[in-house]
Amino acid sequence: MSKDANVQGSMTKPPKQGWLYAPSPEATDNVRLAPRYELFVDGKFSAPASGKYFPTVNPSTETVIAEVADANEADVDRAVTAARRAYEQVWSKMPGKERGKYVYRIARRIQERARELAIVESLDGGKPIKESRDVDVPLAAAHFFYYAGWADKLDYALPGRRARSLGVAGQVIPWNFPLLMAAWKLAPALACGNTVVLKPAETTPLTALLLAQIIQECDLPPGVVNIVTGAGPTGAALVGHPGVDKVAFTGSTDVGKRIQRALAGTSKRLTLELGGKAANVVFADAAIDQAVEGIVNGIYFNQGHVCCAGSRLLVEESIHDVIVRKLKRRIEHLRVGDPLDKNTDVGAINSKEQLQKIRMLVESGVSEGCSIHQSHARLPGRGYFFAPTFFTGVSQSHRIAQEEIFGPVLSVLTFRTPEEAVEKANNTVYGLSAGIWTDKAAKVFWMSRRLRAGVVWGNTFNKFDPTSPFGGFKESGFGREGGAAGLLPYLEAV
Ligand code: NAI
Ligand code: MG
Repeated sequence: MSKDANVQGSMTKPPKQGWLYAPSPEATDNVRLAPRYELFVDGKFSAPASGKYFPTVNPSTETVIAEVADANEADVDRAVTAARRAYEQVWSKMPGKERGKYVYRIARRIQERARELAIVESLDGGKPIKESRDVDVPLAAAHFFYYAGWADKLDYALPGRRARSLGVAGQVIPWNFPLLMAAWKLAPALACGNTVVLKPAETTPLTALLLAQIIQECDLPPGVVNIVTGAGPTGAALVGHPGVDKVAFTGSTDVGKRIQRALAGTSKRLTLELGGKAANVVFADAAIDQAVEGIVNGIYFNQGHVCCAGSRLLVEESIHDVIVRKLKRRIEHLRVGDPLDKNTDVGAINSKEQLQKIRMLVESGVSEGCSIHQSHARLPGRGYFFAPTFFTGVSQSHRIAQEEIFGPVLSVLTFRTPEEAVEKANNTVYGLSAGIWTDKAAKVFWMSRRLRAGVVWGNTFNKFDPTSPFGGFKESGFGREGGAAGLLPYLEAV
């Protein structure tokens, strides 16, 4: 959408450029990317049987970074066979203490290669370097550290029972946190004694392939981890493969439902982590400036490419105007642009398709009569970018209040009583996360018991820790990742 043409409602004047930052791009000279990446199967990189490759693009410049193998059914079969062999001959027989050492080694190697991983994450996916450097990569390492500690203590996860691994896990992950989602999937599976075939998203395969190198460097027995790249058909071949015992998927609700249907009637175990439409609820007694920062952090950082993003703002009616005024000012100061610039707050939208989806939903908000407010940030001439945006005058039936936009777009609604806030917050098909901003801890507890959301943050938002479980209610999926609860999908009690 053209930034000025469709703008309705009260717009702030474009700000005088008070805060100009000199460019501060992260140096990329320590990163050596290959022109082509192969599949990682049975401990080695090898060409796909398909003979096909697809390009992965830098979404901030629209240039091709590298080409990546496109795995077909025969390739997936080769990976699952390697994983099965490694499971039966090596990994399931290895004492937990020994397995844990490998998982620790992966964590340490991620730390050693942190800078390179952060740069590649931002190049391939478009997220700001300060996010990949300070959030994605450290959390990925922390996840491996945390689950390494569980590897020899699994029986304690199931009091009174003995824990047994499941076999081969087939895991499919999305593009919004490519390395972190790989860590969320691999770390508990490996600690529990399963072997893995992982498929990263087609727009962001590179950090998973660097992780494959790390796994090689850590001398994991061949076949314990296999990484196959490709798009939807590769994912479908993996989850449908009869040699897979457990499927874990993070991505869109649509694909999640398709996988659930495909697996019905099989003995495969399944966990799904799907979309969200989180409510960020701000009471009149909240610390307003802190809440505004929390709202901004919840939806604009990372371009809103977060399944638990606070994409619906529910404000108590009496503070609606002051919050809107502050938000308008705040979004003008968000720096949108080069993901590799250390000052950038909002980077590139992950793909052309995603940008089109955001534009389409924003247009639906405008045509349904909501008032749009958009930052006047000058967007780069190339690449996929979208200015931070919010809508007022939104009611619950509007599409922008119900559908996951997955972009830097916020819908503002109001409430008068806590009961109304709960009802509105719960009024979506999703239930992944929520935020509550108030001066009264009792209100946080009162509300969090009534919210149908897997994670509820009090006076903060989007905070993650490997010890704390994460997952959804309703169409946001089932199963938990993180914490002791995150072991259960990879174990059975005997
Ligand atoms: P998607 O669900 O199509 O992709 C996620 C992963 O699933 C990718 O690795 C993809 O290759 C794979 N996949 C696609 N079709 C498959 C199939 N039939 N069987 C097995 N695997 C399959 O998500 P997409 O199209 O990239 O994004 C669409 C929307 O989904 C976004 O606009 C956003 O609303 C939502 N989304 C939610 C995420 C979350 O973390 N909950 C992450 C990414 C997207
Ligand atoms: Mg890419």
